[in-house]
Amino acid sequence: MPVNMRIRYQFIRVIWGVLFVGVMVHHADDASKGKSTPPDRSLYLPGKHIYKVSCQPCHGERGRGDGELVTMDWEVFPRDFSTGDFKYRSTPYGKLPTNADIKRTILQGIAGSAMPTFHDMSDKDLEAVSEYIKYFSRKWRKEEFHADAVLLPSKPEFMESDTGHREAVESGKVMFARNCAPCHGEQGLGNGPAAATLMDSYGHPVRPANLLTPLGCGESEEDLLRTILTGMTGTPMPAFAEALNEEEVWKIVLLISEWRRSKAL
Ligand code: HEC
Ligand code: HEC
Repeated sequence: MPVNMRIRYQFIRVIWGVLFVGVMVHHADDASKGKSTPPDRSLYLPGKHIYKVSCQPCHGERGRGDGELVTMDWEVFPRDFSTGDFKYRSTPYGKLPTNADIKRTILQGIAGSAMPTFHDMSDKDLEAVSEYIKYFSRKWRKEEFHADAVLLPSKPEFMESDTGHREAVESGKVMFARNCAPCHGEQGLGNGPAAATLMDSYGHPVRPANLLTPLGCGESEEDLLRTILTGMTGTPMPAFAEALNEEEVWKIVLLISEWRRSKAL
């Protein structure tokens, strides 16, 4: 190869080498897992590259959710990252997500929307693109939007036995009727009395989820627990971390899981 190209190649290798060390140092810092963190500048360039290829066609060059693939007939538009609002988080309602939250969304994709799964993306690329999308909103530079993840309570022991489980599901129905049915309906089908009137914070009508269909938040007990406790920023789905205690929230999670199992989704 010509000399000037070889020099360029060497230069790029050095740059990548520096970035790799950055990634490794970043990974060593496990304490950052449980809280939102400001953008990591060392990952800006590799993140931008991945974004351009894999995300920009939908999320747009400036992260506004207006990429070239998007047309008006989409039912769910790509997230506008400039709002700094994230639906899928482990942090309290209105706060920024942790890196683990962003990576989970990218890895799993979002059922019921065009957001694909990137399950074979390397951890290095996931980390870089997660950092890059933080540059689209100023919220990431403001202390007041950062927060620790809400701790997810482990399942109360008495719910492990068959009888305990059955009783929890029964009592979950009462909790669900009181707290969720007004929007999601008695059977969780998304048809409660308030369903038709709900708006998101940008003034668009929004439907409560049918909890018996594939869920955007993920479908494990942990995904349900996290979503119910922290709510979905920008939507009417409230956070129940204050309103429900650990036992109550677990009863509701077991009820929804039971419904989903009996529908054999
Ligand atoms: C084919 C279109 C498409 C592509 C490509 C795409 N997305 Fe999305 N993305 C969406 C849609 C649609 C949503 C909104 C889903 C919703 O509101 O439930 C979304 C939502 C998200 C969210 C959710 C934010 C929240 O509210 O918690 C994140 C994070 C995200 N995308 C990141 C990415 C990244 C990073 C890439 C590239 C690696 C990417 N997306 C590629 C369509 C796409
Ligand atoms: C004020 C109305 C309202 C109440 C009360 C409410 N929700 Fe929701 N919920 C919504 C809306 C609206 C969405 C859809 C948000 C979106 O995706 O834009 C939603 C979404 C969800 C999701 C995520 C679905 C997905 O596809 O990711 C779960 C899980 C959920 N709700 C469970 C519950 C449970 C359990 C309760 C009661 C403890 C509850 N909700 C109470 C309005 C409500």
